[in-house]
Amino acid sequence: MRRLAFFSIVVMLALAGCTTQSNKKPLSETESRQYTESGKLIVRTTFEVLSGQLSQALARGGVSEAVTYCNLRAYPLVDSLSAKYNVKIKRATVWVRNTDNKADNDEEIILREYIDLKTEEKHLKPILRRKANGDVVFYMPIQITSPLCLNCHGNVGTDITTADYDIIKKLYPNDNATGHSMEDLRGIWSVTFLQK
Ligand code: HEC
Repeated sequence: MRRLAFFSIVVMLALAGCTTQSNKKPLSETESRQYTESGKLIVRTTFEVLSGQLSQALARGGVSEAVTYCNLRAYPLVDSLSAKYNVKIKRATVWVRNTDNKADNDEEIILREYIDLKTEEKHLKPILRRKANGDVVFYMPIQITSPLCLNCHGNVGTDITTADYDIIKKLYPNDNATGHSMEDLRGIWSVTFLQK
């Protein structure tokens, strides 16, 4: 009897393994191409609007005016893209300003991969991964590609005036998102294509 119970547990585990396995089936070439295309489009569209608005706000009223424009929630576009593609759009990092953007385990693994590739001076390409629940995640590196970013993520005292940093610190007392230079990795885009 005990042996039978043991046997059924083994069978159940094997079946459970199978279902996760089937959800995790590798992406076909067509799927990979489609997810990559949509992922790139979503990231590019979001980034263009965000950096456009950021630079306008900076020109209008400096850091105090622009400080709320580096938050995806400030952009209705993010909601409309999320609904259109049934995705969750996130920026994730380990050098966190807003703790909502802290990388989860999977994101941290990807970010570490990019950090290693960058150290080896390799090209940083988008990465696609399918999760155990079937969702597909599109990742892309976020680098400091414009001097604009240094206004709020560069060195305090040189790139960022201490007065401006006071404004940032007031909103984000545990800020860990300064000290960056041009071309630095700042984090990753993480776009989850929800299967349901
Ligand atoms: C006017 C100041 C300002 C500028 C300019 C700015 N940021 Fe930010 N950045 C912030 C603030 C404030 C947050 C926190 C946003 C939030 O609450 O989600 C942030 C958050 C982020 C995050 C999310 C991770 C985290 O630490 O919360 C990334 C990634 C990021 N910025 C990248 C950039 C890049 C790349 C640029 C240049 C294109 C840039 N930022 C320009 C102020 C700025």
